[in-house]
Amino acid sequence: MSIVEKQRRKYETKTEKYEVKVHPQTDRLYHIELAKDAIEGFLKAVKQEDYSVQHLEYTPYTRLIVSSLLLDQVGEEFGELLRSIVHDRESGGFTIGLEGVTKDTDEYVLFSTAVSYLLGTSNFDSMSGKYYARFTVKHTDNSDSYLRQAYRLFTLHTDGTFVDEPTDWLLMMKIVEENARGGESRLLHLDDWKELDRFANHPLASRKFTYKAPSSKNVSQEVERLTFFNHNNKPGICFIDQFVYPETIEEAKYLKDLSQSMENDESVIELELPVGDLVVVNNIFWLHGRAAFEVDPNLNRELLRQRGRFNQ
Ligand SMILES: [Fe+2]
Repeated sequence: MSIVEKQRRKYETKTEKYEVKVHPQTDRLYHIELAKDAIEGFLKAVKQEDYSVQHLEYTPYTRLIVSSLLLDQVGEEFGELLRSIVHDRESGGFTIGLEGVTKDTDEYVLFSTAVSYLLGTSNFDSMSGKYYARFTVKHTDNSDSYLRQAYRLFTLHTDGTFVDEPTDWLLMMKIVEENARGGESRLLHLDDWKELDRFANHPLASRKFTYKAPSSKNVSQEVERLTFFNHNNKPGICFIDQFVYPETIEEAKYLKDLSQSMENDESVIELELPVGDLVVVNNIFWLHGRAAFEVDPNLNRELLRQRGRFNQ
């Protein structure tokens, strides 16, 4: 086994309640399979506590209680395992799901919260006014960003660019999918990007750019952001083409070339994510986007997202 292979299989493990494997599509990610009885036990325990989605929205500590109910089923070490994977520069991400145990979308919210609060604390999502957001992609849309426009490529970016708070990780869960072809989540690990050095060592890499959100995000502040910054002695990235405001032609060309270079990189992964599964990636060294859907008047897809920080 090569050193890289060893590093990428560091967290492979199997217990009675879960198995951690290298993801079938890419060795940059892990796939975690939970035992069905553990998922059933978790959902039952949440019911016994009488915790609803609204409860979780209104009373933040219940989100951590829900995490503890998951740990009761799978073992105390599970939280540390998830955090280690998301911190690990070699990987930084995993997929996990409900193994078909439920199709109830409220239970999807409960489960995703149990996972996210093992990682840290979710940020307030101004678009939804909650600690998470559910959003639908359909055939028609009149929004002001590409988030909900089905037939456009949603270019690779990081989240939290226009807010003044850390966004260490991102969770996306597929909760509904009907008549969808295409629309896969596109992912790129920064260290797999062939032209990283060219852009990270460019004079404009250390130029602060202004980021502003469109009105649908309900964020009126402007923030200044470096595109590349130091993160544990390796580059971290902050970038989204739609919300950055360069001031010169040279800056605009740098951003355009950077975006195109990432889009065309051969290491971009188009992730297959079944309904009821979620993906978590480190938002400092992973970029994400979405492939265009094929045209279908009955297209209906709903995703849930949470973004947050690690606890100190
Ligand atoms: Fe995003």
